[in-house]
Amino acid sequence: MTIAELIDGIPKAELHLHIEGTLEPELMFEIAARNNVTLRFGSVEELRAAYEFDDLQSFLDIYYEGASCLLQERDFYDLTMAYLRRAAADNVVHTEIFFDPQTHTDRGVPFETVLDGICRALEDGEKNLGITSGLILCFLRHLSADAAMATLKQAIPHRDRIVGVGLDSSEAGNPPSKFQAVFDRAREEGFIPVAHAGEEGPPAYIDEALDLLGAVRIDHGVRCDEDPDLVERLRREQVPLTVCPLSNVKLRVFDTMADHNIQSLLAAGLCVTVNSDDPPYFGGYMNDNFHAMATALLLTEADVVRLVRNSFLASFLDEEPMEAYLRQVDEFVAS
Ligand code: HPA
Ligand code: ZN
Repeated sequence: MTIAELIDGIPKAELHLHIEGTLEPELMFEIAARNNVTLRFGSVEELRAAYEFDDLQSFLDIYYEGASCLLQERDFYDLTMAYLRRAAADNVVHTEIFFDPQTHTDRGVPFETVLDGICRALEDGEKNLGITSGLILCFLRHLSADAAMATLKQAIPHRDRIVGVGLDSSEAGNPPSKFQAVFDRAREEGFIPVAHAGEEGPPAYIDEALDLLGAVRIDHGVRCDEDPDLVERLRREQVPLTVCPLSNVKLRVFDTMADHNIQSLLAAGLCVTVNSDDPPYFGGYMNDNFHAMATALLLTEADVVRLVRNSFLASFLDEEPMEAYLRQVDEFVAS
């Protein structure tokens, strides 16, 4: 088996995926047309051509604009189902996806419309594609803590369908500390806390996410390597990092894939995982991320297997299904 065959075939989990960020241009135009929403871009080609970013904010501006076509329950269903089909093609067998309710409720779309559409697709994805899943509500950190608290209160009656809460959007200048009270309440209500930190923000935001929000997983976290004490802490506590290689290159966190630090973080003993973040915007789904790394960083087969085992170990799966998936990984590698 070549390393490319290993990457394509091995069963894997995805833990860092924004469902609104999976909107392919073709589906965006289809949904916009049926909802009578006018997009700033005239064609699929024009939109794709705009996918050149200088930093996180330049991406977020287009990401929010794309999401503005999503209005009906069916839109959220179609969006989620399209992602699940792509994930299944990459042998992703478990996925924990983010959604950004404020992006929709601020446009007058009811919270339940968003949730119902996504969850109906997740149920069909499990039935028809065999993909298990979890849903993580992300607060938009460029908005106020009060707005995040109001969103949390909308989510509480739906606790059975939402496993965790996270923090995304513009990182610099919006430290985790801003949301301490929201995360205190979320943990009391039984939501598992995670947070984007150390993508564009400083390593201190990673410490804050752990200490002030109780985050059990750090999304991105790649800037940890600027603080050796933090790297040692992440290793000792085995805090998972959900790293998104193609995203980091597209958003200029690293100049090229060859400059990415994922392999050195792995070698330092950190619990690193690979994820696609917002695949159409960043140039690829799960396996594309692995292939890009394998080529640029000379990833070994052992690296691939470690990264994939970590994806299940870092998931919110119960022990029994987690063990079953890890056995599937071992069986695939042995075959
Ligand atoms: N970082 C922060 N916010 C986001 C991202 C990301 O990579 N993707 C979608 N919202
Ligand atoms: Zn992200």
